[in-house]
Amino acid sequence: MDEKDLIDAARSAMRKAYAPYSKFLVGASVLAGSGKVYVGCNVENASYGLSICAERAAVFNAVGSGEREIQAVAIAVSTGEVAFPCGACRQVLAEFAPKDGDTRIYLVSGQGVEEHSLASLLPNAFRLTE
Ligand code: THU
Repeated sequence: MDEKDLIDAARSAMRKAYAPYSKFLVGASVLAGSGKVYVGCNVENASYGLSICAERAAVFNAVGSGEREIQAVAIAVSTGEVAFPCGACRQVLAEFAPKDGDTRIYLVSGQGVEEHSLASLLPNAFRLTE
């Protein structure tokens, strides 16, 4: 699995997005600790607050398959500009960041790809302390 495959998986997931209200299609793919890739898309609802973001759908898919670590994430949109993950998704990603490292984040637009680190997008993520 290289970066290009992860990005292609996010673009494919984007095409499955269910977003009849916002019309904003998002696909996400996560490279999990086992080396497998899991995908998700945004799924909206007529009761708007029930909608789920693509990133969380992908993470929950991975965790439900037994994964506990996310090494990298690709987030694809079809617009010209990249979309950064929302705050809630950043916190969920932080839960599964590698214990001794960081999660790479690839933001994918119709124009290209840019790379970030989760720590740069969410410094001082919330953690339970004793
Ligand atoms: N959305 C995502 O899928 N990921 C984000 O990080 C932010 C927003 C979705 C939710 C909704 O379906 C649409 O984009 C517009 O907010």
